[in-house]
Amino acid sequence: MRCGGDVDVDGDGDVFPSTPGKLKTWSGGSSAISRHHVGVVHRCFASTSTLFLWALLLVALTASYLSFAGLVDTSSRYLLLSASRARGGGGGGWERRVGESARPGAHRGARGLSVLVTGAAGFVGSHAALALRRRGDGVVGVDNFNAYYDPSLKRARGALLASHGVFVAEGDVADPGLLARLFGAAPFTHVLHLAAQAGVRYAMENPSSYVHSNVAALVALLEACRGAEPRPALVWASSSSVYGLNEKVPFAESDPTDRPASLYAATKKAGEAITHAYSHIYGISVTGLRFFTVYGPWGRPDMAYFAFTRNILQGKPITVYRGRGGVDLARDFTYIDDVVRGCLAALDTARRGERGPAQYRIYNLGNTAPVTVPRLVYLLEKHLGVRARRRVVDMPGNGDVPFTHADVARARADLGYRPRTNLDAGLKKFVKWYLSYYGYSSSSSSSSSGGRVVGGGAAAATTTTMTTTENKQQQQQQQQKQNRGLR
Ligand SMILES: NC(=O)c1ccc[n+]([C@@H]2O[C@H](COP(=O)([O-])OP(=O)(O)OC[C@H]3O[C@@H](n4cnc5c(N)ncnc54)[C@H](O)[C@@H]3O)[C@@H](O)[C@H]2O)c1
Repeated sequence: MRCGGDVDVDGDGDVFPSTPGKLKTWSGGSSAISRHHVGVVHRCFASTSTLFLWALLLVALTASYLSFAGLVDTSSRYLLLSASRARGGGGGGWERRVGESARPGAHRGARGLSVLVTGAAGFVGSHAALALRRRGDGVVGVDNFNAYYDPSLKRARGALLASHGVFVAEGDVADPGLLARLFGAAPFTHVLHLAAQAGVRYAMENPSSYVHSNVAALVALLEACRGAEPRPALVWASSSSVYGLNEKVPFAESDPTDRPASLYAATKKAGEAITHAYSHIYGISVTGLRFFTVYGPWGRPDMAYFAFTRNILQGKPITVYRGRGGVDLARDFTYIDDVVRGCLAALDTARRGERGPAQYRIYNLGNTAPVTVPRLVYLLEKHLGVRARRRVVDMPGNGDVPFTHADVARARADLGYRPRTNLDAGLKKFVKWYLSYYGYSSSSSSSSSGGRVVGGGAAAATTTTMTTTENKQQQQQQQQKQNRGLR
């Protein structure tokens, strides 16, 4: 209700208070709400004392209900929501599945989280969702299964999640209607936002997809978070790419990030600024995680280690970029399980619902040990048992940076983050998964790829053979999307 200019919508400090967390008094309940209501109602109805008294009573009743609702903890709210839905009090099958999937296991007790994982059919999202589910947290995924890379891989990750009881809603995070339904169906305590348009080079082909998924979808999600009750803490994926053209190594969170080298990096940097603004104005707890070249089983086909593996096995040449002056490119390759542990630690340490300024944190999640691309190729050859055919070319100006190297001191101190897996061990696990997923079988016969066996040990003694037409088709599809970026 507006009464002739009484409410300053443009922010005089009452409507958008400087103390974070008060804006949601309309649904959260506090003494501020009753003072505000009383002021508005009084000015509108001062001439009619009876009406005023009735209004006052109504406001008092509303305020006490909201205060009570605010006191009820998440798990109790869960029971209330579930009970109401079980009685048919709202929502159909979809809502019921969201509600069930979001419910933490009883054994987790008060530690149980209820997490909305965006980009859950993606590489990091599927691993993180599974890790949360395995320890008993409630998890709901959302993903639009877009065709940036082979959607059948996303479907397979989705099926894996479903087999562990994780429901993945199909839709776009930029859709406020979908978010309203999700937040209406379950009281999420946390959001792990991993949906994004990834890849550096694809921005030259489809720039608007970065604006859509990395900026518009992020804002839609923050809007949904600020209106949600309870208000979830947000943990989201930024990227090492924000360090752009920096030359100081290792990269620390306090280093400048104002020289992005790609549109992808620019949208991640924008995301950091946008989340900061929402945290400041609305009191949302935000943790941004700058991932450094994540790799591992169920990985992304557009990334170099994945595309190299495919080409090596098919006997096709791989393109190895070289930096200025013939310097090898290097990346701080970080194994998926280390990144997932970092994500879970960020969720566990996120503070929610406290008085005072909201938490706003940024952490590097890297491996702290950069490895050159030629060394990456050597390790792949070793684990595949096949020699690569290299085509070494100068790096074009496509947004890639020559090297990355993480300083993780802050994450170690605050999150207990300690990367455990080196590239050799991590690639071994990746290759094992790749061969099994794409239907290669080991044999001692000569390689169908035409490559040569290199190195020593059991892996080097094997060659590989494609087994199914379906897998061949999958490989062809991925071939079209190959070499989109190192990151
Ligand atoms: N993998 C890495 O090396 C790396 C490095 C730095 C940062 N990151 C960031 O980590 C996050 C996860 O990356 P990933 O490697 O798992 O990528 P991914 O592409 O495998 O996963 C992202 C998922 O989000 C989905 N998605 C994209 N836009 C969406 C939208 N608008 N609505 C709903 N779903 C949408 C995609 O379908 C995909 O399944 C991303 O934010 C990425 O930018 C990844």
